[in-house]
Amino acid sequence: MIPGNIRNKIIQDLSIVEVVSEYLPLTRKGNSYFGVCPFHDDKNPSMSVSDSVKMFNCFSCNTKGNVITFVAKYENISYDQATIKLAERIGLKISANTSKEALKQERLENIMNEAAKFYSFYLKNSDEGTEALKYLHDRGISDEIIEKFRIGLAPSLSDGLYQFLIKKGFSELDLIELGLVKQGENNKIHDIFRIRVMFPLASNNGKIVGFSGRIYTVSNQAKYINSNENVLFHKGEVLYNMHNAALFARQLDKIYLFEGFMDVIAAYRAGIKNGVATMGTALTKEHIASILSVTKNIVLCFDGDEAGIKAMRRSAKMLSSYNIIPEAVVLPNNQDPDEYIKEYGAKQLEAYLISKAKPVYYWLYKLAYDKVIKSDIASVEQFKHTVFEFINEINQETIIDYYLNQMANDLGIDINSLKKDFVNKIGKNSSVEVNNPTNQTNTVSQVQLAEVPITKAVRRAYQIIIKHCIYNHNKLNKYLAHTQDFFAGSGLVLEFSIIQAIETEVLINPKLLNTSKFAVHNISVLCSDEQFKEYIENIINDKFIDISNDDDFEQSLNLIIKFIKKVKTRDIKNRIIRGDDSAINDFTASKKDENNL
Ligand code: UTP
Ligand code: MN
Repeated sequence: MIPGNIRNKIIQDLSIVEVVSEYLPLTRKGNSYFGVCPFHDDKNPSMSVSDSVKMFNCFSCNTKGNVITFVAKYENISYDQATIKLAERIGLKISANTSKEALKQERLENIMNEAAKFYSFYLKNSDEGTEALKYLHDRGISDEIIEKFRIGLAPSLSDGLYQFLIKKGFSELDLIELGLVKQGENNKIHDIFRIRVMFPLASNNGKIVGFSGRIYTVSNQAKYINSNENVLFHKGEVLYNMHNAALFARQLDKIYLFEGFMDVIAAYRAGIKNGVATMGTALTKEHIASILSVTKNIVLCFDGDEAGIKAMRRSAKMLSSYNIIPEAVVLPNNQDPDEYIKEYGAKQLEAYLISKAKPVYYWLYKLAYDKVIKSDIASVEQFKHTVFEFINEINQETIIDYYLNQMANDLGIDINSLKKDFVNKIGKNSSVEVNNPTNQTNTVSQVQLAEVPITKAVRRAYQIIIKHCIYNHNKLNKYLAHTQDFFAGSGLVLEFSIIQAIETEVLINPKLLNTSKFAVHNISVLCSDEQFKEYIENIINDKFIDISNDDDFEQSLNLIIKFIKKVKTRDIKNRIIRGDDSAINDFTASKKDENNL
């Protein structure tokens, strides 16, 4: 594996026009060069080659890529071989060392696979296995499902797996690094997983990266233990069963997200093969990226208890920042899919999951409303607060209106005073119009401090940051780290959307991280978006923005950070003016922050 920064450098430093013109004649038209595409039978110059976006693109056969892709395709060699060939042209020598990391990864994946084989064999071929199989069968998990999900068993023996893997010639250090074994007292090595039914966890490409082990005998230990985070396993990235579900999710254009991986297995038994689950953690950006790479239609299927509702709420909030409103299904009586199947059967579960999916906000509203005690003002206020909070995340006024009307009906209160309440509580006066019968203007937030002006310098700083972020993932991260939860308002919508688009692209294509494809991909995506096209092209062609000048980036970022501070302080002051007492704490906290800078 050749590091991304080398590829990046090749793509940046070489003129793609120069390289391609060594293979075929190019003629100049405006800013681009055109030639006859060598990748399909053609007589017309359908292929454009451009140094500004560092890409070639055939409008006829749709083949496109960067300078490395071109050479690889033309010479019929691998991408790596083409990289090595082109690296020489810019004076870089790629050593054998660069593949060291790749070799290690392969070695570790191999160990995990052997461990899964060991657990699987032990489940089927031991006395302990007979007992564990009985446990699984009693839970409705058939031999077929056991095969499909590669379920196994960790023996009670203290070092069964260790002995097996050492005999296979694997190194102790690797096993420790993978969290399969550890050194105990007397320096003796022992297995981490013991007397547990073992569920392999795979990455999106199906390689085993960790395990979750469930107790199956009477025990006072935790019900499940998972592998520690290791080189292969990152909890925040793994979605159980994603490698199998992706295909079905793509075909059906829908994915179910469950709370536990046992629920995924239960759903599978009911014929629902497009189900995944996080490993007991909240949904992360990385999870969302994997999901969005197969479908945008997400159905949350969490338990109906407090924890489940919270998870649903958090997931809805995460997804709202991608402008996605997922659906949700909540099973009756706080049952999880596994328990539901046990009581009503697999057919019934399938019917329920399919027929009862409704927008997540429907469920959040319903679950909150079910708890209201109408005679208790505090309970009614709590309900209003809960609903205000989640509808405030919705970007569609008609939906906000829908729930406000629903709430006015359910509580028997006047819609206009409810809207005023909403505006007051959330301080969001732009999206909701208060219908005033006397035709007076909305008096809800009487006093407002003036907007912080978006100066030319701020706008310029954003342009500089955008260009740097297009080409450099680390800078993108740095910008994002400083601007979390910040939205400056309508004045910078385009700039915000562009940076968000770059971020989303990276999330959807995590493989792009720190590879040469990063910039090329971003540019091609951004420039295909009509709304961004002109703005981006201007930035890219702007000779005064030099992406190799890190100081420029830092200075721009600092300017933006200052700007954000001003906007935030103004917002807090507005809240104080409106009589929001909690704002005073925020104010002192923000002052403290400033002093610490
Ligand atoms: P649940 O407690 O809902 O598990 O935890 P479940 O799916 O119903 O499992 P069974 O039916 O009792 O076997 C949901 C998820 O939370 C994580 C696991 O990832 C589990 O799938 N979890 C739960 C842990 O990591 N550790 C625990 O001790 C419990
Ligand atoms: Mn369960």
